[in-house]
Amino acid sequence: MQRALAAARGVRGRTSPNPWVGAALVRDGRVVAEGATSPDGGPHAEARALTGGERGGTLYVTLEPCAPFPGKRTQPCAEAIIEAGIERVVVALLDAEPRVRERGVELLREAGIEVEVGDGAAEAEALLRPYLKHRETGRPYVIAKFAATLDGRIAAAGGDSQWITGEAARERAHEQRDWVDAVLVGSGTALADDPSLTARPGGQTAERQPLRVVLDGRGRLAPEAKLFSEPGRTLVATSHEASGAWKVAIAGTGAQVVECERDGAGLNLDQLLAALAERGVLSIWAEGGGAVLGSLFEGGHVDEVWAFLAPSIMGGDGVAAVGGAGVTRAADAFRLRERTIEELGDDLLVRGYAGDWSPQLQ
Ligand SMILES: NC(=O)c1ccc[n+]([C@@H]2O[C@H](COP(=O)([O-])OP(=O)(O)OC[C@H]3O[C@@H](n4cnc5c(N)ncnc54)[C@H](OP(=O)(O)O)[C@@H]3O)[C@@H](O)[C@H]2O)c1
Repeated sequence: MQRALAAARGVRGRTSPNPWVGAALVRDGRVVAEGATSPDGGPHAEARALTGGERGGTLYVTLEPCAPFPGKRTQPCAEAIIEAGIERVVVALLDAEPRVRERGVELLREAGIEVEVGDGAAEAEALLRPYLKHRETGRPYVIAKFAATLDGRIAAAGGDSQWITGEAARERAHEQRDWVDAVLVGSGTALADDPSLTARPGGQTAERQPLRVVLDGRGRLAPEAKLFSEPGRTLVATSHEASGAWKVAIAGTGAQVVECERDGAGLNLDQLLAALAERGVLSIWAEGGGAVLGSLFEGGHVDEVWAFLAPSIMGGDGVAAVGGAGVTRAADAFRLRERTIEELGDDLLVRGYAGDWSPQLQ
C-alpha cells in the first residue's frame, strides 16, 4: 500500500476533476507493477498497473476501484481487475463519489475476489481531501495561506509586503501552487502587488499552471495587469457593479469573467466556490489578502491553513493576515487541528486543518 500511495502522491492535482489514485500489483511477495491515474480521460491507476498481461496476484489500490455508470468514458476498473484474474484486492478508502461508492467493492466480491478495505486509510484520506470534499459537498477544498510577521501582519501600513518570509518559505508556496487547481486573491492584492500568480517551483515556470482567480467586484483591475498575460488561465469574479465595457476589456485578455452576487463583505463566496467546483476545481490555494481570508474564514470555507511566520514585528497599522469582523471572545478563535510546525530557514510554517468539514468516516 505504501508503494500505491507513493504512486498516487506523484500525480496529486494532475488528474482533476478525477481523484489521484495509485495502485501496486504484488505476486509471490514482490511488487511486479505500479500505476497511477492519468490526466482526465486516460487510463486509471488500476488499468496502468495491470498492463503486463499476466494473471493473478494481490492488487493494492488507494481508492475503491470504479464501477460502471452511465456516461463513463474509461473502462470501469472493477471490470479490468476481474478480467485480469486478480485474486485479492486491498483498498485503502471507499469512494466518496455517490455513483460508485461501495459498488466497485461489491462487483469484485460478486466475482469471487477477496476484498479488504482500510489498509492505509488515514494516509489515503489525507492525500485525497480535496477530491473527497468536492464530491461530498460540491465545494472545493480551500487552503488559506499567508506569510506574516510574528504580530500577524502580511503587509506594512503602506501596503508593501515584499518580502516578509525568506526563500525557503517562498519555495514551499510555489510547490503548493504547482499541484492545486486554483490560486485565489482579492483585488486589493492584485492592485497592490501586480502579482503573476504562476507556479515556479525551483525557479522554473511550471508547464501546468493553476487557474488564477481574482475577486474584483467593482472592476478595478486593468487589462494590462501581469496576471492576464502569464501562461495558464485566469478567471475574474465580479458583480453587477462593474461596467459592461470593463467586462468586455477583461474578457478580451482571454480571461473568463464570472458574475456573482454581492453580500456584506464583497462577492458571495459560496456562490463563487460552487461555480468553481462545477468547473472541476477541487483545490484552492487562497493567498489573501487579509480581507479575502477574513471572508473565507467567516463563511466557514477554509479547510486547511498554511501560516508562514517570519521572526519580525511590524506593529502599527500593517495589514492583518485575517481581516473581517473576527471573533468577539478569545475562546471562539479558529483553532487548527492536527497541526504541524516546521522550520524553513529563519521562518516557521504552521499548518493544520480548520473548519467543520472532514472526510466522512468509512
Ligand atoms: N504576505 C502575504 O502573504 C500577503 C498575501 C496577499 C496579500 N498581501 C498584502 O495584503 C494587502 C491586500 O490585502 P487587502 O486585505 O487589502 O485586500 P484583498 O483581500 O487582497 O482584496 C480585498 C478586495 O477583494 C474584493 N472582494 C471581493 N469579494 C470579497 C469578499 N467576499 N471578501 C473580501 N473581499 C472581497 C473587494 O474589492 P471589491 O469590492 O472591489 O470587490 C475587497 O476590497 C496588500 O498590501 C498585499 O501586499 C500579503
